[in-house]
Amino acid sequence: MTPSLSRERCPRHVAIIMDGNGRWASLRGLPRSAGHKAGVDALRRAVKAAADFGIEFLTIYSFSSENWSRPEAEISFLLDLLRRFVRQDVAELHGAGVKIRIIGSRENLEPAMIALLDDAERLTRENSKLNLVVAFNYGSRQEISRAVSAIVAKAQAGEISAGEISPDLISQHLDTAGLPDPDLLIRTGAEQRISNFLLWQSAYTEFVFVKEFWPDFTAEIFARALEEYRQRDRRFGGIEAQTA
Ligand code: FPP
Repeated sequence: MTPSLSRERCPRHVAIIMDGNGRWASLRGLPRSAGHKAGVDALRRAVKAAADFGIEFLTIYSFSSENWSRPEAEISFLLDLLRRFVRQDVAELHGAGVKIRIIGSRENLEPAMIALLDDAERLTRENSKLNLVVAFNYGSRQEISRAVSAIVAKAQAGEISAGEISPDLISQHLDTAGLPDPDLLIRTGAEQRISNFLLWQSAYTEFVFVKEFWPDFTAEIFARALEEYRQRDRRFGGIEAQTA
C-alpha cells in the first residue's frame, strides 16, 4: 500500500533516473536482463505511488542516447521491454487517467516503434490524473542541439531575430516544451551524477540520491525521497525560501 503523505509541499514534477538494474541482477547471480525485467515492476510501483501521492508529472529515464553503446543483446532486450510495456500497460494506464508523453529523438527509430509511441500518446492525450513522461532515446545535449537547430532555422527564415532568443524561447523548443521544470530528481543505485538527463530543465531541481538499486524501489523509498525534498530550502538563487 502506498504510504499516505501530506500534500503540503508535494513536488509537482518528479524526474527519476532508474539506475542499478544490472548491479541488482549481478548481486543475485542473474543476467542483467533479469534486472531490467524487475525494473519494469519497480516502474509500475513508482507510477502508482506517484499518482497516489498526487504528483502531477513523473518523468522517467528509460533509455538514453548513450545506451546504444551497450551490447546488442541488451539493447534488444531493453527495446523489447519498452515495446511490451507500451503494449501491455498503456491500456491500464489509460484507464487510470495517465497521460503519456514520450521525449527524446524519434530519428533512426524503427517505424513500428515510432507508431507504438505515437499511439500511446494519442490514446492518452485527454487524460489528466498523472502525466507520465518517458524519456526514450533521450540525451539532454542532443535535445538542446535540436532546439538550437530549430531556432537557427526560424532565424534564417526571418521568423525570429537574435534579440528574441531567451531562456523561455529555448525551453519552448526543447522536447519538454510546456512541462514545468522538475522540482525533484531522484536517482537510485548510489551513483551521484546527472548522466545527460534534463540538463537545462534541472537548473533549480532538488536532487535526492537513493542507495537502493532501481528494482528494489518501493512506495516507501519514494515517500522518503519526498520527505527529504520537503526539508529542502528552495531559494532559486534568491534569499527567501520558496515553495514549489
Ligand atoms: C539503468 O540500469 C537502467 C537502464 C539503462 C534502463 C532502465 C529501464 C528500465 C527500468 C526498464 C524498462 C523501462 C521501460 C519504460 C519499459 P543499469 O543497467 O545502468 O544498471 P547498472 O548501473 O547496475 O549497470
